[in-house]
Amino acid sequence: MNLERRTKKSSKRSVLVTGGTGYIGSHTVVALIAAGYNPIIADNLSNSKASVLKRIEKITGKLPLFYKIDLRNTTALNKIFQKNSITSVIHFAGFKAVGESVAEPLKYYENNIQSAISLCKVMDRHKVKKIIFSSSASVYGEASANPIKESSATATTNPYAHTKLIIEEILKSVYVADPEWRIALLRYFNPVGAHESGLMGEDPQGIPNNLMPYISQVAVGRHKKVNIFGNDYPTVDGTGVRDYIHVMDLAEGHVAALKKIDTTIFSVPRVINLGTGKGRSVMEILRAFEKASGKVISYRITKRRPGDIAVCYADTKLAKKILGWKTKRNLADMCNDAWRWQSQNPKGY
Ligand code: NAD
Ligand code: UD1
Repeated sequence: MNLERRTKKSSKRSVLVTGGTGYIGSHTVVALIAAGYNPIIADNLSNSKASVLKRIEKITGKLPLFYKIDLRNTTALNKIFQKNSITSVIHFAGFKAVGESVAEPLKYYENNIQSAISLCKVMDRHKVKKIIFSSSASVYGEASANPIKESSATATTNPYAHTKLIIEEILKSVYVADPEWRIALLRYFNPVGAHESGLMGEDPQGIPNNLMPYISQVAVGRHKKVNIFGNDYPTVDGTGVRDYIHVMDLAEGHVAALKKIDTTIFSVPRVINLGTGKGRSVMEILRAFEKASGKVISYRITKRRPGDIAVCYADTKLAKKILGWKTKRNLADMCNDAWRWQSQNPKGY
């Protein structure tokens, strides 16, 4: 009887984390374990390495169950649901490079959308109807006002962002067809930083597209200078302003969302921004990273990157109201933790 109750209890907390060996997924797995959940990872390792699993074990004392599968392989996915009592899903898996999505749109539509459809079909077959989806602030495009509210108009400017919006719509349609589904659509702003242990962090393949990993690779000597894409924006110092959020705060935001969908029936799928609500310029980030690393970071001003916007930061009221969650870590934490990870792992995992 006791055993049965225990089994039931532990199975209740099994969460399938797609893309769980990736940057945000792996940090969320750590936060889930800390919160008493049993995360099960499904990832095809197209943009991550299995060695992160040992790091998760080192931090948490628990080696999560891992399945190397492509989510589009519905048969393989079905087997995971047959073997495990999964009750909810956090869906991180997908391609995320904006520039690549412009050059290879079909690759993005095929991978991101087919993965989401395959996942929903298998979830439905197994009556698992709770899902948290990784959406992105990129769905807002150039918003007319900051901070950006969830009710702001969407205006995607590239295929990557468009896949996010399409998947949001797919999930809303799934809910219309079956209101038993509980769906959280989390729109992330700019995730940065690393686990405070320095054991886990962002490990981009090739030259990083994003600012913070580029700066940290300059600090560690992998590149000479940071290219600052324009200093003629209408901002505090002319450089672009973004809402940088510590990846562990983001991870904890997922735990809060999971607790919410475990206990409350959302009347409709909820779109929720996850950000800090503060905008920081490129120069502010660079200076904060110099302070954290004790290194001088060389830079040069280049022309604007096509498609970039001047300013983007979140209105965070809804996250606070619905999830009872807000960020705890500041810019110094983001830079200190990113530097600890980068300096201890100059070549990544
Ligand atoms: P990531 O690339 O580190 O992680 C994504 C993981 O998904 C990778 O491990 C990859 O191997 C896996 N994957 C991709 N396609 C797959 C498939 N068909 N089957 C199985 N696994 C597959 O990216 P991340 O930064 O951790 O982002 C996670 C999610 O959050 C993505 O959906 C991304 O679009 C979204 N997001 C990220 C950011 C960001 O700046 N990092 C911002 C907003 C939204
Ligand atoms: C990028 C994606 C966006 C995604 C977000 C998540 C693009 C165009 N947009 O947003 O869809 O949701 O990541 O994190 O890729 N910068 C430099 N030099 C660099 C890199 C960046 O000056 O080498 C500047 C950019 O102009 C921008 C800021 O730094 O002002 C942040 O850039 P980045 O980290 O790429 O994020 P976003 O462009 O906000």
